[in-house]
Amino acid sequence: MSAKYNFDEVIDRRGTASSRWDARPEDVLNLDYPVGEVLPLWVADMDFRAPDEVIEAVEAVVKRGVFGYGIVTDSCLDAVADWEEQRHGWRPKKEWMLLAPGAVPALHMLVRALTGGSGAKKGVVIQRPVYYPFTSAIEGNGAVVVNNPLKLTGQRYEMDFDDLKGKLKDAALFVLCSPHNPVGRVWSRSDLETLGEMCAAANTPVFADELHCDLVSPEHKHLPFALLGESFLMNSVTVIAPSKTFNLAGLQATVVIIPNDSLRRRFANVLYAQNALMKPNIIGVAAMEAAFRWGGEWFDEAWKYIRANYDFLVKYLADKLPEVKVFPLEGTYLAWLDFRALESDPDRLRRRMLTEAKVWLDDGFIFGSEGAGFERIVLATPRATLEEALCRITASFGVPC
Ligand SMILES: Cc1ncc(COP(=O)(O)O)c(C=O)c1O
Repeated sequence: MSAKYNFDEVIDRRGTASSRWDARPEDVLNLDYPVGEVLPLWVADMDFRAPDEVIEAVEAVVKRGVFGYGIVTDSCLDAVADWEEQRHGWRPKKEWMLLAPGAVPALHMLVRALTGGSGAKKGVVIQRPVYYPFTSAIEGNGAVVVNNPLKLTGQRYEMDFDDLKGKLKDAALFVLCSPHNPVGRVWSRSDLETLGEMCAAANTPVFADELHCDLVSPEHKHLPFALLGESFLMNSVTVIAPSKTFNLAGLQATVVIIPNDSLRRRFANVLYAQNALMKPNIIGVAAMEAAFRWGGEWFDEAWKYIRANYDFLVKYLADKLPEVKVFPLEGTYLAWLDFRALESDPDRLRRRMLTEAKVWLDDGFIFGSEGAGFERIVLATPRATLEEALCRITASFGVPC
């Protein structure tokens, strides 16, 4: 345990209007069988308290007690740029940045901006299995999903550039998940360069969802897509946020970085004119600045703890349930587990998890049919909670913990 931070502390989040802990699987998954109380490790948020500096910044706003409209301050944007530069070697300019309530809302607006109107291309490329709300952001705005599935070779997912070749010509947008949720890949320079060159040649902008960019194992390095060359920069819409890194998703402050003026204007037109989202949440802005400015040490310790959780999970499953294959955690705090050797039917697997193991994980098939037979589990939780979930899972396959 870290001397300064106690990530082992179990904070009871039930009854706190928490999406992960208070929603019911019967409602969210539209089930026709009862489930009852489960241990929920599905939605990607942490069970850790945010850094003290963030809590103090939020308290300062609350104590002031005046909650009128806000703006994004220069000092907040400086904190964002400083963090991105120190951690990832890229300094985005302040005039390129806009604030949105989240990465998913930003994608909705970008899809609308690029695919709306007659004559516009309607295709948006995603790489399944991938974070499932991308699909609704595309289809919900009248665009069409173009799937460029990842190739699974052994226990490694790769981008399939041969498959992508023919698909870009009808694509108004490419959605890059970097690092990739749920498969945990951190893309290499060569992956990103090949992809970026293909997209630039096809005149297809890239939405680089880099929300998990800080959560990268020491053997890997996150490369901001926009950093890889001028043509990449000018063809990119990057989203970064304190939401995953510091567990601030509920405060809804996300930074959208668009260096290309014309692309930025098109996006801003939808953001402001159509959605009237020009006024950020004042608590979110204060929390974001404090997190990026003062939260580094907390994050480094949290990330060490999460990686130790991953090691714990790997060992636990290797000992008790070696048929479950655990994918390497290059990035994200989400472990991707292959249950196909134990249960090939994805509906039966879901039902077993919910009703026998009494755990709620994200079923792989919700990320696309490519994920059928897999489960995604959140690692950003106290060790005791993770151990309890693993114990329940192994017991449901007849192996005592
Ligand atoms: C890759 C990725 N993008 C977007 C989101 C959601 O972002 P937001 O809450 O900012 O819309 C998540 C949340 O888990 C995610 O993993």
